[in-house]
Amino acid sequence: MPEPRKILVTSALPYANGSIHLGHMLEYIQTDIWVRFQRLRGHLATYVCADDAHGSAIMLRAEKQGISPEQLIEQVRVEHMADFKDFAVDFDNYYSTHSEENRELSETIYLKLRDKGLIANRSITQYFDPEKGMFLADRFIKGSCPKCGAEDQYGDNCEKCGATYSPTELINPRSAISGAVPILKESQHFFFKLPEFESMLKAWTRSGSLQEAVANKLTEWLDSGLQEWDISRDAPYFGFEIPDQPGKYFYVWLDAPIGYMASFKNLCQKRPELDFNEYWKADSKTELYHFIGKDIVNFHALFWPAMLQGAGFRKPTALNVHGYLTVNGQKMSKSRGTFIRARTWLEHLDGEYLRYYYASKLGRGVDDLDLNLDDFVQKVNSDLVGKLVNIASRCAGFIQKGNAGVLVSDNPAPELWQAFQNAAVDIAKNYEQRDFSRAIREIVALADQANAWIAEQAPWALSKQAGKEGQVQAICSLSINLFRQLIILLKPVLPALARRSEAFLNVEPLTWADLSTRLTEHRINPFSALLTRIDPEKITNMMEASKQDLTVEAPPAQGNGELIKEPLAAEISMDTFAALDLRIALIEKCEAVAGADKLLRLTLDIGDAKRSVLSGIKSAYPNPAELEGRLTLYLANLAPRKMKFGLSEGMVLAAGPGGEQIHLLSPDQGARPGQRVR
Ligand code: MSP
Ligand code: ZN
Repeated sequence: MPEPRKILVTSALPYANGSIHLGHMLEYIQTDIWVRFQRLRGHLATYVCADDAHGSAIMLRAEKQGISPEQLIEQVRVEHMADFKDFAVDFDNYYSTHSEENRELSETIYLKLRDKGLIANRSITQYFDPEKGMFLADRFIKGSCPKCGAEDQYGDNCEKCGATYSPTELINPRSAISGAVPILKESQHFFFKLPEFESMLKAWTRSGSLQEAVANKLTEWLDSGLQEWDISRDAPYFGFEIPDQPGKYFYVWLDAPIGYMASFKNLCQKRPELDFNEYWKADSKTELYHFIGKDIVNFHALFWPAMLQGAGFRKPTALNVHGYLTVNGQKMSKSRGTFIRARTWLEHLDGEYLRYYYASKLGRGVDDLDLNLDDFVQKVNSDLVGKLVNIASRCAGFIQKGNAGVLVSDNPAPELWQAFQNAAVDIAKNYEQRDFSRAIREIVALADQANAWIAEQAPWALSKQAGKEGQVQAICSLSINLFRQLIILLKPVLPALARRSEAFLNVEPLTWADLSTRLTEHRINPFSALLTRIDPEKITNMMEASKQDLTVEAPPAQGNGELIKEPLAAEISMDTFAALDLRIALIEKCEAVAGADKLLRLTLDIGDAKRSVLSGIKSAYPNPAELEGRLTLYLANLAPRKMKFGLSEGMVLAAGPGGEQIHLLSPDQGARPGQRVR
């Protein structure tokens, strides 16, 4: 046996200000499959991750929710960990970048760079929000596009015409946080001297450990000249203060990748067999892989290796970059119900089905990957239920009935068995190279071969003939062994199915090495359904729930609810106003809607009639009965809307950004149901 490889693997650290969605899951599932494959092969693969907890977006979101950033990131970390666990993503450690280990490592790395003269320091001029008292990142400034004039565009690019510009070019700039007119203000910033690493990065680009598309992109950046990288931000900021520089903080992207190291360091304290230095010293013999999406290549392929080298640590063995997820051929969209949170999926469908589908489509490249939900149902039902599990389900009964569950040792199809052995070599190669779609194609082809052979042998027909029982047992025993082979080959992708199959086969956890053996004179357990078909209705329900999720979703990180000044809408005429039939309504009954996360059903008395309204305000009123007997404002002539949970007639009026901050409107005392607002 060769020495096991020591492999440290990471996925990008998700931001701690939002939920995990199916786009994120593509990355964590891809990484997890690769890690599980390595472990199954007997290597020491350690998989670490963490929440990326710093930055102004997180600070502002916490402020908006009226909690501290520490509370917010803790809540989100718990939520993220549960999502990952339920998709069987098996981290060795899931930590946070807001940790002591990360603070120490960030300081160490910064000080090493500084002492080597790799940190510059100069003052720059930026937009500053005088009301909020903070410098504004580009995405917190809005104004009209300097090229096409489109209103309400962000500080760095125009969504209408695609122009990119600097925030100072925006016409009529406003702070997206307070609405104030920003002023230009000077401040000292710290810069990492990236250009000093040009030759190292050129060599690294050509080292062969990067995907071609990634290497090409890097060459393009290197050819157009490297810039110094601004690594500091001014207070108020949620992050680590820079040593000896009060009021200056490390930019979130400085300490985020160091978070990989910090998570590993934290794990080393729990697992004495892991040695931090062995993995991170400059001449480390261990392997280090970062799985990331194509949007964050610059941070991982330029700044990160340069920082590591500058501070005397090893560089990554390779970056494994993947493309973006689309759903039904389009960018994930909130209104179409294709922006699907990990949790919403899990509430309707098994996470392992998604793992299989992603695996069946993931290649080595950086191309985008489409989750086509019709194709998904078809593929899972046909491959996993129709082909894979079918092998066991059609053969197990004969073994129970004819031989008390014991597999016999005859091998009636040595060539078929050998074909499985040969294919396994290639399948391992495909897993190793992250060519999962090819691995799956080959595995399904093996399942087809097994099914064709069983159909040809027809044990069900033989079992009705006298004197053929020995043959039936031999055929079915080999079939169960072929099933076992397929389960081993799929175990990196389908760990829970593998676990259930191991119970059925009555064996210890299977490893890759078990492929070379056959179960003989071995008693298996009675077969019980290992997987169920996907009912397409579950997809419909899941998409519907995704739309529901978003009806009351707070607007994207834009700061404190109280401080947001919503821009005034366009003027309307008195006639338009008069067209609104607004009235006072009495909430007679108010109850949660079964199966809907966010909806309450209100029965209203509007004087001369009763109305039933579905309203997405449950997050603010977890105890719906408290609204009963209360008066509110009601828009009576809104066209009725047919929703999955029934008809909603008109709407009740509320204010606030969403989440827990929804404030149902009420009239002064003395108002009566049915009175019109004028
Ligand atoms: N916090 C940074 C990463 C810091 S790593 C030191 C970040 N977070 S993220 O939450 O926005 O994204 C986490 C990972 O998910 C990234 O690799 C990103 O590319 C990936 N994805 C986010 N949306 C995605 C899709 N729609 N499709 C595929 N991957 C996507 O970036
Ligand atoms: Zn424009």
